[in-house]
Amino acid sequence: MPVGERSPTVLVTGGAGYIGSVLVRQLLAGGWRVRVLDSLRAGGESLAELAGDQKFEFIRGDVRDDPAKAVQDCDAVVHLAAIVGDPACRAEPELARSVNLDGSINLYEAACLRGVKRFVFASTCSNYGRAADPSVLIQEDSPLRPVSLYAETKVAVEQFLLGQPRSASCIPVVLRFSTVYGVSPRMRFDLTVNEFARDVALGRELVIFGEQFWRPYCHVADLARSAMLALSASPDVVGFEVFNVGDTEENYTKQMLVDQLRVQVPELRVKFVPKNEDPRDYRVSFSKIRERLDFSPSRRVSDGIREILDVVGTGLIADPNDKRYGNT
Ligand SMILES: NC(=O)c1ccc[n+]([C@@H]2O[C@H](COP(=O)([O-])OP(=O)(O)OC[C@H]3O[C@@H](n4cnc5c(N)ncnc54)[C@H](O)[C@@H]3O)[C@@H](O)[C@H]2O)c1
Repeated sequence: MPVGERSPTVLVTGGAGYIGSVLVRQLLAGGWRVRVLDSLRAGGESLAELAGDQKFEFIRGDVRDDPAKAVQDCDAVVHLAAIVGDPACRAEPELARSVNLDGSINLYEAACLRGVKRFVFASTCSNYGRAADPSVLIQEDSPLRPVSLYAETKVAVEQFLLGQPRSASCIPVVLRFSTVYGVSPRMRFDLTVNEFARDVALGRELVIFGEQFWRPYCHVADLARSAMLALSASPDVVGFEVFNVGDTEENYTKQMLVDQLRVQVPELRVKFVPKNEDPRDYRVSFSKIRERLDFSPSRRVSDGIREILDVVGTGLIADPNDKRYGNT
C-alpha cells in the first residue's frame, strides 16, 4: 500500500462487529490508521476502549447513506458491514437487500470516486450452497449455488465487483470466509462452534440436526488476519481475485464437532435428530490462499472450543444466552 509521510488509512465498515472489532485491533497494531463506519446494530462497546487512540476514528452511520465522508483520504476499504446470516436476512429481507447489495455497490462507487486503491469484500463460503458431491473439495471457481437471501446478496456483490473493468482505479478482492468461531469483543453465540461449546459449558444436552453435513470453520483472529493480508499483498497477487479463507484440514461435519467437544468434555450429552436434507453441505479447498498469500490458521476448532468453554465456564461471559449475542 502507498505509504507516504503518514501511515496508510483504512476504512473498516462494520468494524464494531464480531470480526470487525478483532480486525480493527490487528490493523492498529500493524501500524494502520483505522476509520470505522458502523450503524451499531449490536452496540459499540466492542470499540469503546479504542476511544482516544490517535490512529482510530469512529463514524456512526449507515453504509447506504452518502459514504463520501467515510472513504475520504482512505487508501483502502475492508467492507464487513452487512445484515449477517440467513435468519437475520430472512427476518428483514428488504433491509438485507438494501444494505448488503445496494449499500455495497454505493460504497464501492464512492471509494472509486475518492481515489481509494483497494476494496476488500467480506463474502462467504455459504455461496457454495449444497455441493453436488460433498466428497469433492470446492475451489474458488466451483459453481455458486446460493440457497438463501443472505448468500444471494453476497454472490450479487461479488459479481458486481469482479465485473468492474480491469483498469478500475480501486481494485476489488473477494474473501469467502468459512464459518467463524472464537472469542471477540463483540461476541456471537449464534455460530455453530460457539453455540455448541456454550451449551456444553452450561451442561445442556446438545440437540444436533443433520450431523453428517460438512462445513469449513475458521477462528475469528485468523479471518481478520486474512483481511490484513489482502490489504498488504501486491495488487498483482490479489486484484480481482477470490480467496476461500480457512484451512482444508478444518472442514468438519457436526458429528466431528461433537467428537472434538467430547475430547474436552467426555461427559457431554447429545441427541442426534435425523435430517437428510441440508441446503448447505460443502467441503472447501483452501490451497489457493495458502499458496498465494502463505495463509495458514494459527488456531483450530479445538482451540476455539477451549476458549468458549473457558469464557462461559468461568463466568467471564455471565449471560451467554442474552439476545445481544445473536444477530436476530
Ligand atoms: N461470522 C461468520 O461466520 C461469517 C462468515 C462468512 C462471512 N461473514 C461476513 O463477515 C462480515 C462480518 O460479519 P460478523 O460476523 O462480524 O457480523 P456482525 O453482525 O457481528 O457485524 C456486522 C456489523 O455491521 C454493522 N452494520 C450492519 N448494517 C450496517 C449498515 N447499514 N451500515 C453500517 N454498519 C452496518 C453492524 O452494526 C455490525 O457491527 C459480514 O459481511 C459477513 O457477511 C461472516
